[in-house]
Amino acid sequence: MLVLGIETSCDETGASVVSDGAEILSNTVASSLEFHKRYGGIVPEIATRYHVEVINYVIKDALKKAKIKLDDIDLIAVTYGPGLVGSLLVGISFAKSLSYSLNLPLIGVNHLWSHIYSGLVGERNIEFPFIGLVISGGHTSLVFCEDIGKFKLLGQTKDDAVGEAFDKVAKVLGLGYPGGPVIERIAQDGDPNSIGFKPTYLDDGSYDFSFSGIKTAVLYYIRTSPNTPRLRRKKSLNKRLKSDIAASFQKAVFDSLVEKSIDSCKSKGTGSLVVGGGVSANKYFRAILTKAGSENGIDVVFPPFELSLDNAAMVAALGYSLFKKGVKSDLNLTAEPNLGV
Ligand code: KG4
Ligand code: ZN
Repeated sequence: MLVLGIETSCDETGASVVSDGAEILSNTVASSLEFHKRYGGIVPEIATRYHVEVINYVIKDALKKAKIKLDDIDLIAVTYGPGLVGSLLVGISFAKSLSYSLNLPLIGVNHLWSHIYSGLVGERNIEFPFIGLVISGGHTSLVFCEDIGKFKLLGQTKDDAVGEAFDKVAKVLGLGYPGGPVIERIAQDGDPNSIGFKPTYLDDGSYDFSFSGIKTAVLYYIRTSPNTPRLRRKKSLNKRLKSDIAASFQKAVFDSLVEKSIDSCKSKGTGSLVVGGGVSANKYFRAILTKAGSENGIDVVFPPFELSLDNAAMVAALGYSLFKKGVKSDLNLTAEPNLGV
C-alpha cells in the first residue's frame, strides 16, 4: 500500500511516499527557515505563504523521487494538529482536494504521535507498551504508548518547550535562530560543569517539566557575571564563556529529561523509550540518554537524524498503521492547532 504523507504544521513543507508503512520511497522537505531568521523566530504569516507557494512542487518532487504517479497512491495522510493554524490548513486543504479528486481515503495524523512514531519507521520492531518522549520547538511531553493510537499523556512542560528554551538562550547569546544546532556545536568546546544552572524540578511527583527558569538564569548569569565589565568593553561575550554557558545550560536541561524519562519507564514497567522531535537530533543528548538507558536495562530508540526534524515520512508511516486499525477521516477534517496527545 502506497501512502502519500503531507506535513505543514510549522515552517517545513514535507511530502513523502511510504510503502506499507515501512519503506520510505521518498521524503522531500522544503523549509522557510531562512525567511524567519531575521525575526528570531517563526512568523506564522510567512510560514503559511511559503507552504502555499511550494506545496505543489514538494508533492511533485516526492512522487518523482518515489518513481510513482499520483494514480498509484492508495491513501493520503496529513498532519491536522498541533501546529500553526494557517500552516496546517494549507496541508489539510491540499490533502482533502487530492482525496476528493482521486477518490482516495484520507487520514488526519497527530503531529506529536508522528514524532514518536518516527523512531519506529522501517524495520524497528518495538513492543507495546513503551514510553514516548516528544522534544521539539513547541512540545516537551512524556507519553505512555499502549498501542497504535492509544497514547496517554504522563507529563509535559508547564512553560517553555525544550527547543524553545534552546532558541531563547541562543538569542540571548547572540547566536541566531534556530538555537538547538548552534548551542550543541559551541557546547562541544565548553565545560558542562562550569556553571551550575538547574532546571526547575517540580517535586510534585508528576512527570511535568519547567524550562523557563533556566532561560532566565542564563540571562541573569550574563548580566551579573564577573565577565560583565569585559562584556561591556567588548560588546560581546568571549567565545570560551559562550561555550561554557551553552554546555552548562544543555547539560542541566538534558539531565532533567533523562531523569524523568528513565523514572517513567521504571514506574510503568516498560523496557523501551522512544524519542522524537527536533531536539532528538542532539548527539550529546543521544549519548547520555542511551547510556542511562543501558544502565537501567531500557532500550532507547531514536529516529534516524533525517526523521528527527519535521518531515512527512513519519506522517505517512503512522497514517498507514492507523488506517490498518480502521481509523479514517472525512472531508470535514480541519486544523486543530492545540491538539494534545
Ligand atoms: O520538531 P521540530 O522540527 O519542530 C517542531 O515541531 O517544533 O523542532 C524544532 C526545534 C527547534 O526549537 C530547534 O532549536 C530544536 O528543535 N533543535 C535542536 C537541535 N536541532 C533542532 N535542539 C537541540 N539540539 C539540536 N541539535
Ligand atoms: Zn515537530
